[in-house]
Amino acid sequence: MNKDLIVVITGANSGIGKKAALTFAKEGYSVVMACRNLEKSKEVFEEILAETKNERVTLMELDVSSFDSIKLFCSHFKKQYEKLDILIHNAAYFNHGSPYQLSADNIELTYATNVFGPYLLTVLLLDHLKRSEDARILHASSNIVKHFFDEKKELALYNLLEEKKKHSVYEMYCNSKMALVILTFKMAEELKKENIMVNAIQINGAKMSKETLQKVTFGWRMIARVQNLFFPPTSYISDSYFHICTSEKLHGVTGQLINDKREIMEPASINPSLKEQIKQLKRSDVYPIYATKRETQQLVWDLCSSLTGRTISGEIKEEKRPSHIL
Ligand SMILES: NC(=O)c1ccc[n+]([C@@H]2O[C@H](COP(=O)([O-])OP(=O)(O)OC[C@H]3O[C@@H](n4cnc5c(N)ncnc54)[C@H](OP(=O)(O)O)[C@@H]3O)[C@@H](O)[C@H]2O)c1
Repeated sequence: MNKDLIVVITGANSGIGKKAALTFAKEGYSVVMACRNLEKSKEVFEEILAETKNERVTLMELDVSSFDSIKLFCSHFKKQYEKLDILIHNAAYFNHGSPYQLSADNIELTYATNVFGPYLLTVLLLDHLKRSEDARILHASSNIVKHFFDEKKELALYNLLEEKKKHSVYEMYCNSKMALVILTFKMAEELKKENIMVNAIQINGAKMSKETLQKVTFGWRMIARVQNLFFPPTSYISDSYFHICTSEKLHGVTGQLINDKREIMEPASINPSLKEQIKQLKRSDVYPIYATKRETQQLVWDLCSSLTGRTISGEIKEEKRPSHIL
């Protein structure tokens, strides 16, 4: 039993996050299910309690897209817990088909939920993570980042604060998941000296639950139903979350993108031939070299700190909206 270890899982009320909460609870961890809709999540929380009889599972309110909600969550968490061992950024916004939306902080909702919210949550929990003997952070990315094998593709940042060009939810989701991989690499470097490990998992697909399917438009629901015929169960990915965050084998491993076979991936080759480019799309061991570009890493990093108003050291920064790129 891992009674002394504490894990926070965002979006733990459905899909992969729910299964992950169940797995950690079964293994005796103190699990904090960080969910935005308490009414809906209470049922899941009670289900997990009943199945695992682990009374160290708690449900706390967190809307990852809102900076105020993140701050409130962190202050509640810190009153209840002395440290944090594992932080799993599982929650994501991917409601394909919905129109352009801004978060409570006036940032495009996909980026706010999938990139800036996770950054701020980590920053505000850092002091607690530093108290763990083996702190691990995991970001949930997606194989959608394969679009960046196209060497002409760059992160689209123009619609971050207002709809300047035609909005595509798919495109935003794709970009946000690449930005999250880039953030993983940069954050791992920054937190190495603190002995905090930061990795990302590339998810190729997992069966979407009925509730998840209800969140997308009819067209995407039909596509997802077909994909569900081929996708592995959510437990396949949640078991990988558990492995990445707890295994001795990955102790000390940081700044890596890990595939769902639990293998550490490598950046693809520079200037591949057309034949090689086509092969890359099928390979599960390589990711686009774009993610390793220093200037893009710095760009994402600077955006995270200027839009959230916090540097990695927790210092309050004047919240700036760099208009030249947005
Ligand atoms: N399933 C796949 O095929 C697949 C493929 C690639 C990557 N992924 C990634 O895997 C992760 C889990 O996805 P899933 O398939 O398990 O989908 P899911 O069942 O819809 O789970 C997403 C979770 O995130 C929560 N969430 C969304 N916005 C939030 C917010 N602002 N604050 C707090 N929680 C929020 C949702 O809460 P509500 O229930 O309240 O909406 C839900 O609990 C995501 O990061 C996703 O991008 C999944």
